[in-house]
Amino acid sequence: MSDIQRENWGSKLGFILSVAGSAIGLGNIWRFPYIAGENGGGAFLVVYLACVLLVGLPIMVCELAIGRNAQTGAVGAFAKIFPGKSKLSRTLGVLTFFGGIVILFSNHIGSGLLVAGLGLAMIKWGFKSAGPLALIVAMIILSYYSVIGGWIIEYTVKSFQPNSFAQLETVPAAKDALIGFLGTPWRVVLWHFVFLGLSAAMLWGGIKGGIERWSKILLPMLFLLLLVVIIRSLTLPGASKGLTFLFHPDFSKLQPSVFLAAIGHSFYSLSLGMAISITYGSYQTKHDNLYSSALSVISLDTLGAILAGVAIFPAVFAMNMDPAAGTGLVFQVLPATFNRIPLGWLWSGLFFIMLAIAALTSAASLMECGVTFLLDHTKLKRHGAIILVYVIIGLFGVLSCVSILDWSNLEPVHKFLVRFFGETLANGDWLDFLDTFCNNFILPITALLTALFAGWAWTTRKATDELRMGAEKIADKNLLIWSAGLLDDEAYCAAAERHGLTFSSLWAFAIRYIAPLAIVAIFLSAIGLL
Ligand code: PHE
Repeated sequence: MSDIQRENWGSKLGFILSVAGSAIGLGNIWRFPYIAGENGGGAFLVVYLACVLLVGLPIMVCELAIGRNAQTGAVGAFAKIFPGKSKLSRTLGVLTFFGGIVILFSNHIGSGLLVAGLGLAMIKWGFKSAGPLALIVAMIILSYYSVIGGWIIEYTVKSFQPNSFAQLETVPAAKDALIGFLGTPWRVVLWHFVFLGLSAAMLWGGIKGGIERWSKILLPMLFLLLLVVIIRSLTLPGASKGLTFLFHPDFSKLQPSVFLAAIGHSFYSLSLGMAISITYGSYQTKHDNLYSSALSVISLDTLGAILAGVAIFPAVFAMNMDPAAGTGLVFQVLPATFNRIPLGWLWSGLFFIMLAIAALTSAASLMECGVTFLLDHTKLKRHGAIILVYVIIGLFGVLSCVSILDWSNLEPVHKFLVRFFGETLANGDWLDFLDTFCNNFILPITALLTALFAGWAWTTRKATDELRMGAEKIADKNLLIWSAGLLDDEAYCAAAERHGLTFSSLWAFAIRYIAPLAIVAIFLSAIGLL
C-alpha cells in the first residue's frame, strides 16, 4: 500500500461532516437528552459543555493529529510516530500488571487476567498497545451497534405499514411488540446484515467518493428531519413541559457522579478512544486546521444532541408519557408517543429514518477502522477489505442477535462469562455485556493511553508542530490579546503574541494533565472505586 498515494478527503466541509457523522449517533438521540433531563437539565448542559471543551476536544484534536502525522490507521500510527518505549509506559505497565494480579487473587479471574495481560502488553509494546486495543473495541462495538441499527430499519419499514406492530399507542403494547420481534431471531439477524451492508455500501466508493460523499448528503438530511420532527413536537399542546424537563436548570443535582456521567458521555458521543478520529485523520492533508475542524465537529455533535432532546421530549410530555432512555425510549415510548398524534405513522417513520441515518454514519466510521487496517497492513484492496470485515463482524454480531431476550441460545457463553467475570457483568445479555465492557473499561483505557502518548511520549512539543500545520494563523496567537482586539496594538509586541494563552498551549496543557486525570476519574468510578 505504501507505494500507492494515500487517498485524501475532498474538502474540509466533507471531512467535518464525516467526522460529525461518526459522532452523531444513537448516543445523541437516546442517551444524551435523558441524561440531561435527569441530571439537572440546563445545569447539566453547562457541565457537559465544559467536559466537551476540556476533555473531549483535546482528545479529538490529539487523535486527528496522530492519524495525520502517521498517515496510517490506529494500529500502525502509534508505532510509526514513536517506535520506542518510554519510561512512563513501562512504569504504567508494571503497575497495571500487578494490579491485575491483585484483581486475580480477589477472585475476579477474567478481569484480573485481562488487566495483567494489558500490563504485559504495555511493558512489551509501550503505548503502541493502544492502537490494536482501539481497533478491537471498534470492531466489537460495530458488531452490536449494527444489530440495533437493524432493529431501527425494521421499525422504519414497519412505521409505514398500516396496522403494523410499530403503530401501537401504549407502552406495554409497544413493549410486547418489541419482545415479539426480538423473539424471532432470524428477522433480527436479517436486518443486522442489511444494516451492516448499508454501512459497507457507504464505504464502497472510498474516502472521497464514499464516506465523504454520503456524509455530505446524509448529515444535512438528518438535521432537516430533526427540524421537521421538532416543529411537530413543539406545536403540540403541553409541549413546554418537555422543554422544562430538558432545560430547567437544577444546580442541586450536580453531584460528583453527574460530572463523571458527563465526561463519560462526551467520550462516547464524540466517538473517542476507538480509532475513528485517528483513522479519519490519516486521510487528512497538512493544509487543514485540525483545531477548527474538531471545534466544528463538537459543535455539530452537541447541537445534534440538544436538538434531539427538543424533538423528543416535548412530544413525550405532551402525550403524557414517561421519559426514558435507550431502547426503552426509542422502541417503546417513542412509537407509542408518535402514534397518539394524528398522522402518527408519518412522524414515527420520519423519526426512524433520521435515527437510521444517525446510526448508519456512525457504523460506517467504525467499519472504516477495520477496512483501513486491512488496507494498511495486508495486500487486500478496498472492496476485498470491506467484504472481509462485513463477513467477520456480521457473523460475530449474530451472537448479539440470538441472545437478546435471554441466554438460552448461548448458555455456554453465559456460563463462561459468569465464571470469569462474575454475575454482575454477565447479568444482562451478550449485547449488554459487550457494551458495558467496551464503554466502561476499554474506551477509557485507550483514551488514556492516547492522551499520555501524545503528552509524554510523542511529546506535546512535536505534536503541536503537527497541529500548527494548516493552523499557522491561529495556533500561536495569544487568545487573551486576540479576543481583547489588541493584536495590532503596538504596545503588544510580536513577542507577547507568542506567549501565554494560545490554542497550542491550552491544548498541550489539557492533553498532559486535564484529560488523563478526568479519564482516570471516570475509570475509577466505572469499576466502583470512586
Ligand atoms: N458517537 C456515537 C454516538 O453518539 C457512538 C459511536 C460509538 C459511534 C461507537 C461510533 C462508534 O452514538
